[in-house]
Amino acid sequence: MSLQIKSFDNYKRVYDYSVKEPEHFWADIAENFQWRKKWDKVLEWNFKDPDIKWFQGAKLNITENCIDRHLNTLGEKPAIIWEPNDPEESHRVLTYKQLHDKVCQFANVLKNNGIEKGDRVCIYLPMVPELAISVLACARIGAIHSVVFGGFSAQSIADRINDASCKLVITADGGFRGNKDIPLKAIIDDALVQCQSVNKVIVLTRSRTPVSMIKGRDVWWEDEIRKVETLGNPVCPAEEMDAEDVLFILYTSGSTGKPKGVVHTTAGYMVYAGYTFANVFQYQPGEVYFCTADIGWITGHSYIVYGPLSQGATTLMFEGIPTYPTPSRFWDIVEKYKVNILYTAPTAIRSLMSFGDEPLKGKDFSSIKKLGSVGEPINEEAWHWFDEKIGDKKAPIADTWWQTENGGIMISPIAGVTPTKPGYATLPLPGIQPVLVDENGKELEGNDVSGNLCIKFPWPGMLRTTYGDHERCRQTYFSTYENMYFTGDGCLRDEDGYYRITGRVDDVLNVSGHRIGTAEVENAINMHSDVVESAVVGYPHEIKGQGVYAYVILGQSEHDPELTRKNILQTVTRIIGAIAKPDKIQFVSGLPKTRSGKIMRRILRKIAEGETANLGDTSTLLDPAVVDEIKTGAL
Ligand code: PRX
Repeated sequence: MSLQIKSFDNYKRVYDYSVKEPEHFWADIAENFQWRKKWDKVLEWNFKDPDIKWFQGAKLNITENCIDRHLNTLGEKPAIIWEPNDPEESHRVLTYKQLHDKVCQFANVLKNNGIEKGDRVCIYLPMVPELAISVLACARIGAIHSVVFGGFSAQSIADRINDASCKLVITADGGFRGNKDIPLKAIIDDALVQCQSVNKVIVLTRSRTPVSMIKGRDVWWEDEIRKVETLGNPVCPAEEMDAEDVLFILYTSGSTGKPKGVVHTTAGYMVYAGYTFANVFQYQPGEVYFCTADIGWITGHSYIVYGPLSQGATTLMFEGIPTYPTPSRFWDIVEKYKVNILYTAPTAIRSLMSFGDEPLKGKDFSSIKKLGSVGEPINEEAWHWFDEKIGDKKAPIADTWWQTENGGIMISPIAGVTPTKPGYATLPLPGIQPVLVDENGKELEGNDVSGNLCIKFPWPGMLRTTYGDHERCRQTYFSTYENMYFTGDGCLRDEDGYYRITGRVDDVLNVSGHRIGTAEVENAINMHSDVVESAVVGYPHEIKGQGVYAYVILGQSEHDPELTRKNILQTVTRIIGAIAKPDKIQFVSGLPKTRSGKIMRRILRKIAEGETANLGDTSTLLDPAVVDEIKTGAL
């Protein structure tokens, strides 16, 4: 069976087959990949433990699928096009052959620095080709990568490094994002004060920011490359991996506690990322594909690196941000490389919309054939703007719903093949069996229903565990509803059977497409010495989708509110990173709590949303008067 579905009828047939005969279906799909040895069994699973195994007995290496197998046919074709933050700096192109050489070289560097199969490697790099090279070099030798987004603080990195006991860190002196120069190495130095497991740091030269190198621990990327060059062995044979060997860990926020390390394994993830990429974007040979995400997030893992490369695509990596040096930046890139497929986020679209039509004037969008959106619900206004201004109403928009835990796109139009509907992720991809359930776990059948979104059958790209804590995985995803994976999202299935994701139903915020747990932000705010207690909720934000609203109780001493506000923001930046900074901080004397001491977030959410008229029943509150005070002081 070919990977790409070519008509709506074909979709219906394939979908049907995928539900009736999932194992045959996925085995057919898996035939499109390169295996050292094929599987003995396609699937073994239960959602109770959970225990999920795909393609058991198979042997492979994902980098042979992403690089080696293309060398004969696509060796001289661009694999990665890299556009720097500063448009004045030269761009770079890596052909598949060059990518192969660089990945092998750096894989040898990792080996020389003591990294073996199964070791965990933390990658904290800017969006430069060496980030993709590092990820692939780890996969080449069977090391497990844990990429940490460049916007996270030293404390967040330390937590992640310690959770996975990483042995080695790959970073750069600094990184550029817009007009900012982020001192990555200095941040790593701060983080490593708390990390015993790391004994090597490889530092790439990028920003030429002065750094301190610690003897015996820190080495320069360039020096290490020179060493392997002198040894004169450019090839690094790919390690033979079992289908269920761990490929990577990626940390993501939940409603409680610290971020958890979502674990993805080799074969299932590869098949799922590759299949969904080929299908959703209907990638054609020679097309230039531009995903604007950062490799620090799952979208970058699956749809900048593994998905596109597994399909021999040309993937464009951009170091900067949409508005630097001007809000025409994305469109300049589209024009410069004749981008055919653009995959971005609603928050970026809304931010660019806010500049009006001026930045679009004179730009050539004629190369655009397909568009994609990911990370959060796309509002209809943004959908239409994207459709009209960027796609000239000719480029289908794939509004792709999925999660870090899913490994790849789950519910989405297939570009140009299945229908689109503004604001809707539309229909499940083949192999995906979504169900809506009510509070009691009862499945809501038929159309025109709303409920909590679950998936009732495994798919190859799903998470296998949360690193070091399988029970947490079970509790978070598999215990709310029996025999189902619970997404944490609310969802509507309309009269046509199309899905519209309405947002999280747990205490997780989605700020500019980034997942942030309210508990995490509260913990960070509470670190501030003047803070007694805090409660964080989300509220609708024009650009970010959701903003962070913090209600904060301060201690008895005198406070300058402005100064305290600034200090709290600094604390959050230091503990988590700037992405989690509250947009609004309201100082309050108390929080609405039940007699058992539970904060009634529903009330706080309504006040933050400006809906103070109907707060529902407040009679069970310990101190109902506090609600009036909060209402009066609302920002
Ligand atoms: O609430 C959903 C929202 O983003 C959450 C997943 O976040 P994360 O794991 O960081 O992955 C983001 C990129 C895959 C989901 O639970 N979300 C993601 N895509 C959409 C979406 N909400 C609505 N529509 C989407 N297309």
